[in-house]
Amino acid sequence: MQACSQHLEQCLQQRLSESHPRPLGLATGRTMEPLYGALVARLLRWPQAQLDHLRRHWLSFNLDDYVGLRAGDPSGYGAYMQKHLGQPLGLGPQALRLPEPDVADPVAAAQAYQQCLVAAGGVGLQLLGLGSNGHVGFNEPPCGPQMGCRVVQLSAATRAQNAGLFGGDPQRVPQAAITLGLKEILEATEIHLVVTGSSKAAILQKLLREGPSEQLPASWLRHHSRVWLWVDQAAMG
Ligand code: GLP
Repeated sequence: MQACSQHLEQCLQQRLSESHPRPLGLATGRTMEPLYGALVARLLRWPQAQLDHLRRHWLSFNLDDYVGLRAGDPSGYGAYMQKHLGQPLGLGPQALRLPEPDVADPVAAAQAYQQCLVAAGGVGLQLLGLGSNGHVGFNEPPCGPQMGCRVVQLSAATRAQNAGLFGGDPQRVPQAAITLGLKEILEATEIHLVVTGSSKAAILQKLLREGPSEQLPASWLRHHSRVWLWVDQAAMG
C-alpha cells in the first residue's frame, strides 16, 4: 500500500502542473480502504498552499454505484467516498463524481454519467480493485472490451461479496448498478489494479495464467499498454 500510495501521490503532484489534467478514475471496496488511508496521510503532509491547490483541482469519477439507493445512503459508494477521501481531504461532492443512485431512469443516468466523463476528457489514472469473479467496476462476466458505461444486473456472487456494507445480508444488496465499462477503463492513460488478501488468490492466479476472455473481465486489461498490478503476499498465495 505504501508503494502504491507513493505512486498515486506523485501522479497527483504531476497533475497539479498540467493545464488540462484528465480526471482520476476511482474505485471503492475493502481493497481501497488502506490505500486511501495511506494516500490521505501522505497528502495531509503537503504544505497548506499545495493542498489547497489540490482541493481546487480535484476531479474524479468513480467506477460504479448501486441503483436504487437513496442519495447519501450509508451503504452507497457516495458515502464511502466521502468517508475515505472527501471528509479527510476536504473535497466536496462536485469534486468526487459518481453515478446517480437514486433516479427514475437509470439508463439515462448511465448515459449522462458517460457524457459527463467524456466532456471532462476521459479518465487519466484509473484505480481498480478485482472482484472475486474477475469483475472490474461492476463489469460482470461475461463481458467484452467494447462494453461502455451502462446499467448492469449484479451476480449472486457479487452481491454476496459486497454484503458487508449491507449488514452482511446479500438480499439487501441492490440487484443492479451503473458501471463504467471496459471501454472507458481501457481508454484511461494508465491503470492500477490492486489485489490484496487471500480471498483473491485464486482469481489472481487465473488472471495471471489465462489470456483475455469474456469470462474474466479483468483479463482485457492485457490490451492496455500501461497497467500496474499491485499485490500483497496473501493474494499471491
Ligand atoms: C466491487 C466493486 C469494485 C471493487 C471490487 C472489489 O464489487 N464494484 O469497484 O473494486 O468489487 O471489492 P473489494 O475490494 O471489496 O474486494
